[in-house]
Parts: sequence; structure tokens; C-alpha cells
Amino acid sequence: MKLLRVKNYEDMSKKGAEIILNLIKEKQDTRLGLATGSTPKGLYENLIADHKEHGTSYKSIRTYNLDEYAGLDGSHPQSYRYFMNDVLFHHIDIPLQQTHVPNGKADLLEEECKRYEAVIRESGGIDLQLLGIGTNGHIGFNEPGTPFDSRTHIIELAESTREANSRFFDSIDEVPTHAITMGIETILESKKIILLASGEAKADAMVKLLTGEVTTDFPASALRNHADVVVIADEAALKDVDLDQLKGIQLR
Ligand code: PGA
Repeated sequence: MKLLRVKNYEDMSKKGAEIILNLIKEKQDTRLGLATGSTPKGLYENLIADHKEHGTSYKSIRTYNLDEYAGLDGSHPQSYRYFMNDVLFHHIDIPLQQTHVPNGKADLLEEECKRYEAVIRESGGIDLQLLGIGTNGHIGFNEPGTPFDSRTHIIELAESTREANSRFFDSIDEVPTHAITMGIETILESKKIILLASGEAKADAMVKLLTGEVTTDFPASALRNHADVVVIADEAALKDVDLDQLKGIQLR
């Protein structure tokens, strides 16, 4: 695991975008795993600005999002399909049929999980997966207790997750109780992983990720077993991490 310490949200977003753009330059048909939430929005803004300024093309890129709320249609403003269209896909030249988000409105959600796994597998696998992190250590919507060998599955959202995400809904009662998420093993199969963290709210999660044990109680700790993970975290997120005590982590 590598740790890139940056000053603030803007620098985190720039650095993350730079890594993705370098990969796209090398490999025009990159398969990108994408994430939603407040954290990656700035990174997407950087990609859009670059697309407008330098014309970087996404015509051959395919994308695979981590998760989607169960019960929300892609036209629902709080669905992750809507979010991705709104903050990225509609502003670059990627054909929408090359963008994949689980269908939270599928009649048979279990079947949808299997279909989504097959879509990823048949693509040849994800080259680079972008991740945020929940305050409870979730990656995608893999809440504490999720087995490390999980594949795409349906998960009951933790109360803390529903509370954190209620800021986007009129009330917490409107936050879905379940979601479809790539499993932890699905995520770990990506060739490269970038995890972004910004702000004091993520300080405790950074201590656990960077200096804690590998345990299903803290799902992101599974990343410690992956060969190519870059954590890009800002000063506020790292405020409680003793950078001299990092073991097996390259600090840059
Ligand atoms: P956030 O969400 O980016 O909105 O903080 C992160 C997550 O829950 O994975």
C-alpha cells in the first residue's frame, strides 16, 4: 500500500485525476471502476475540465460503478446512476451503454447481482478501481462484517451509513435500507486501486486503515492484502495518523 499525503480536497482530486488520466493515455480502452459520494466529485470535475481543455477521449473506456441503492430507478435524483450521469458521464464523450451501474430496480435483485458480476468478468476485469471510504470503513457498500471473499451482493445498510447519506434525502426514512454492492473480493480483483479520503470526518477511518488490524470489522482493511493500492488522503484526514508508525506502507 502506498500513501500519498496531500494538502487538501483540491490536491487530492487533482492527484487522483492525474493517475486516471495517465492510465487512459497508456491504455485507451481502460476499464474503470467508479465510486459515488462527495469524495470523488472533485476528481470527476478535474476529468471534465481536462476533457474540455485537452480533448481526452472516453469513447473506448468502459466503467463499472461500485454500488446502487435497492429500489431506486436510475431516474431518481438520489440514485447512483443519476449521480454518475450528472457529475461525469453527461460531460464527457463516453457512450452511456459503456457505463455500468447495478440496476437497483431489477425485479430479482439476486439475479441482478449475478448479472453484474458476469458483466465485469466478461469485460476482462477492472484496470483501476476508485474508492471512497465510509466512516465505519465500508468500501462500496460493504459494511462491517462483510466477508472478504464476497462477490456482488445485496447488503442491508448500516444505520450510520443511512444517517450519513440522509443529507441527500428529505428525511432518513427515505434513505433505502438495502443496496447492491460489488463484493470485497470483486473489488480486490481490480489490478490497481485508488482510495480517496478527505476531511476530519475520515480521521478515525484513516487510523484504522493505515495502522489497524486486517479484520472484517473494518472492511477497508482488506485492501492491505492487495498488491497495488494508492491511498490519497489530505492533512485533515491524516491528522491522527502517526506517520512514523506506518508498517508496510510507502509514504510519498
Ligand atoms: P463520501 O462517502 O464520499 O460521501 O464521504 C464515502 C463512502 O461512504 O464510501
